[in-house]
Amino acid sequence: MKRRKLSLSELAAYTADALPKGILLTSAAEQKLNSMVIGWGAVGINWNLPVFAAYVRVSRYTRELLDKNPAFTVNIPLGKPEPNTWAVCGSKSGRDMDKLAVCGLHPVPGEQVSVPALREFPITAECKIIYRQQEDLSLLPEELRSRFYPHSRDSESSDNSKDPHVTYYGQILSAYVLEPEEGEE
Ligand SMILES: Cc1cc2nc3c(=O)[nH]c(=O)nc-3n(C[C@H](O)[C@H](O)[C@H](O)COP(=O)(O)O)c2cc1C
Repeated sequence: MKRRKLSLSELAAYTADALPKGILLTSAAEQKLNSMVIGWGAVGINWNLPVFAAYVRVSRYTRELLDKNPAFTVNIPLGKPEPNTWAVCGSKSGRDMDKLAVCGLHPVPGEQVSVPALREFPITAECKIIYRQQEDLSLLPEELRSRFYPHSRDSESSDNSKDPHVTYYGQILSAYVLEPEEGEE
C-alpha cells in the first residue's frame, strides 16, 4: 500500500466529519493489537506540536495497552464501515477477543510508530503519546458529570459509566490515506 500524505487541516476536516459516527483508535502492546471506537477526539496544536487528543475511560482495555506502549493510530473509514465492526469494536473488550480477526481488519505496518494502520480504515494518524491526564470529575459542571458519569459518586458501583476518562495527547508523527499500489486490490 502507498501513503498519500495529509496536512494537519486535511486530517482535522476528516476527523471532524467522521467523529460524530465514530472512528477507530488502535493500540498495541505485548503482542496484543486492539481497536476501539471513539466518538470524542480533537486535532490541534499543543506545545507547538500537531496533536490528537483522545479520551479513553479508565476501564478500557485500550487504556491498559496505551499505558504499556505510548503510541496509537487513529483510523477513519472512507465511506460507510461494516456495521459489525462498529458493534464489535464499540462494545466488546479486547480482553475477551481478538477484535481485528473477528472484524476482518488487516493491519498495515506503521511508518513512524510500532502500532499499525488498518487497510479497511485508510485515513490514518500515527501518534506518539507525549502527555496523559485523568479527568478530575469534581471540576466538571454537574450537568455533564451526571450525564456522562452517572455512577461516579457510588464507589461500590461496577458500572463503567462511573469511570473518568484519561486524555491521551498523541503527537501526530504522520498523517496519510492508505491507497492500493497499482495492481493491488
Ligand atoms: C459511537 C461510539 C463512540 C465511543 N466513544 C468512546 C470514547 O471516545 N472513549 C471511550 O473510552 N469509549 C468510547 N466508546 C466505547 C468503546 O468503544 C467500547 O467500550 C469498547 O468496547 C472498548 O474496547 P476495549 O475495552 O477493547 O478498549 C464508544 C463507543 C461507541 C459505539
